[in-house]
Amino acid sequence: MNTFRVRPAQAQDCPDILRLIKELAAYGNAPDAVKLTITDLLNDGFGDHPLYYCLIAEVPAEAELTRTLTVGFAMYYFTYDPCIGKLLHLEDFYVMEPFRGLGIGPEILRILSQIAITSGCSCMNFLVVIWNQTSTEYYTRRGALDLSSQEGWHLFRFNKKELLQMASEK
Ligand code: ACO
Repeated sequence: MNTFRVRPAQAQDCPDILRLIKELAAYGNAPDAVKLTITDLLNDGFGDHPLYYCLIAEVPAEAELTRTLTVGFAMYYFTYDPCIGKLLHLEDFYVMEPFRGLGIGPEILRILSQIAITSGCSCMNFLVVIWNQTSTEYYTRRGALDLSSQEGWHLFRFNKKELLQMASEK
């Protein structure tokens, strides 16, 4: 298979993006974690101020030359670090199992790197869950640094309950 194409997602890709987000959640043993809807994805990614961007990988659908099948995606957004400025955060990266090992992942990473550089970012950050050793090795082989072990970071979160509590504090 060498006929895949990677391109920026458009609004009409939202159903496929949601499908792939759910597949990635299932891969992470959290099939029910995804609460987002297609409408959320449309509103949050395709309005005047997009909160995220996606790259889509597609292949020709078998026996239907005019149709394509979306087989992978990367979701990313820009964020800011007070020490180094603008950076690209890779949130989700997924290729459907039958289409892995074909070069789709490297092509997505190549395009993401170009986007990061042309946008003036000095790095690309991402989180990898601790059990996903395959991914850790995948990124490490490509030169990624594990900041959790090197710098001792912990990922924290305030959930809605705590937000509501703090928001109502005087
Ligand atoms: N299935 C899986 N891997 C294969 C296969 C196969 N059938 N055949 C070969 N491989 C090897 C490749 O040789 C390659 O090895 P290398 O690192 O030595 O080059 C590696 O697996 C990956 O192949 P690639 O073509 O480089 O990338 P791919 O298109 O398979 O996409 C990805 C990589 C996205 C990580 C994919 O494996 C995947 O979706 N994994 C499951 C989800 C996941 O863990 N995502 C990352 C989460 S972390 C985050 O999102 C920031």
